[in-house]
Amino acid sequence: MIRVATLDDIDIIRRICDASFDLNRWSNASFMQEFGKAHSIVYIYEFEGNAVGYMVIWKLSLTIELVTFAIEKEYQKKGLGKKFLTSIVKEYKGYTWFLEVNVSNHTALNLYKFFDFKECGIIKNYYGSNLNAVRMTREAVV
Ligand SMILES: CC(C)(COP(=O)(O)OP(=O)(O)OC[C@H]1O[C@@H](n2cnc3c(N)ncnc32)[C@H](O)[C@@H]1OP(=O)(O)O)[C@@H](O)C(=O)NCCC(=O)NCCS
Repeated sequence: MIRVATLDDIDIIRRICDASFDLNRWSNASFMQEFGKAHSIVYIYEFEGNAVGYMVIWKLSLTIELVTFAIEKEYQKKGLGKKFLTSIVKEYKGYTWFLEVNVSNHTALNLYKFFDFKECGIIKNYYGSNLNAVRMTREAVV
């Protein structure tokens, strides 16, 4: 199930982030800032009573920007990322979505393509020198 995170979830988010990302890990301060932004929503995904994933989205008028998303390493490749994204996309199906993903992150790219995200550009050096991002978008479903 999905639920909206609160500041009390910061340690859980920290743990999942550290276990999921090798590069470009967010600091606690970056996560804390999201809780103060009117357009930002932080979600937690729970599986069998454990918080195993988080996602930050920005709700901007009629668009959603998927800012960051992770499933804890030991729970990856079990279909939970797909379930998490299914729930969120359903919640915001009338919105046009945007996101950036590392060109070499094939798991995430495949997952987004499964949800009809289309590549709409390349952002050079987005994650650092020679670390390019694919910009993707998903049309609103009416
Ligand atoms: C990207 C991410 C969120 C996907 O979450 P996930 O829970 O692993 O996703 P799923 O399990 O739904 O699908 C991932 C893969 O597992 C496979 N899979 C799903 N259930 C499976 C199962 N029971 N047995 C074997 N494989 C399975 C899927 O087919 C998919 O395969 P693919 O990589 O070949 O396309 C996760 O890998 C992650 O947190 N990565 C690190 C952070 C990151 O890159 N975030 C995205 C930034 S944009």
